[in-house]
Amino acid sequence: MRILLPKLAVIKHSLALILVLILGMSSVYAVDEHAINVPAPKGEECVEDAKWMRVNHFKTVLNHRDDTVIRGIRTTKHSLKNCIDCHITPNETGDYARYSNSEEHFCASCHTTAAVTIDCFSCHADRPEHVIRAARQQSQLEALKENSVHVSATELILNTPQP
Ligand code: HEC
Ligand code: HEC
Ligand code: HEC
Repeated sequence: MRILLPKLAVIKHSLALILVLILGMSSVYAVDEHAINVPAPKGEECVEDAKWMRVNHFKTVLNHRDDTVIRGIRTTKHSLKNCIDCHITPNETGDYARYSNSEEHFCASCHTTAAVTIDCFSCHADRPEHVIRAARQQSQLEALKENSVHVSATELILNTPQP
């Protein structure tokens, strides 16, 4: 028994390792299939080794969040905003995907396949800041146009002589 126990432990350990490898590989494999429509990132390389990031990126963002929010350490290398700035780039028609678009949004492309759900983008921007600002301006312009239609419709009614 005394000799068997460590052996069992070793077997258990390697089984777990194999399982981790298989699971790891399947999520990475699923990614490749989905990444086809994701526009290429900006820059030559990631803030960390790309292969390492594939598997460990969530540690990077979560650690950075805790550093910033809990420990008050402010750096930009691992900020979520930086990830988004480099990784969310326009497609051929110039559109930036939202997180709800799992075909084209870098982060969503894998998460959907790997059944990962995150709530980060209910608060954080899912596209670079300048894109969001432009979209906001556009919708304000449209709202203005709509208003002016209403104004002129009101004028039309007011200025039409009553029978
Ligand atoms: C309820 C809103 C909310 C949700 C949900 C949320 N955050 Fe945050 N997050 C914040 C706020 C507020 C800050 C502080 C911003 C600051 O002080 O600059 C912050 C800061 C951060 C930072 C540090 C600043 C930066 O730009 O990098 C990171 C990283 C971060 N969050 C990651 C995440 C991740 C990853 C998730 C999802 C697992 C998430 N957050 C979900 C509100 C939220
Ligand atoms: C300066 C631009 C830049 C920033 C900032 C950046 N990345 Fe990257 N990232 C890249 C590039 C370029 C690659 C592809 C590198 C390669 O293929 O060798 C990459 C690769 C990756 C990969 C692997 C993707 C795959 O399909 O294999 C992940 C995951 C990733 N980045 C996540 C992040 C996260 C999370 C952040 C924020 C903490 C971040 N990146 C910040 C440019 C960036
Ligand atoms: C290469 C595929 C891939 C890409 C690209 C990717 N993720 Fe992930 N992400 C995963 C997988 C798989 C997990 C689950 C990892 C685990 O639990 O071991 C995960 C987990 C996470 C988690 C932790 C969720 C939790 O509650 O534990 C966060 C946060 C996260 N990703 C953020 C991002 C952000 C932000 C981006 C885009 C900048 C991104 N991911 C891009 C595959 C990816």
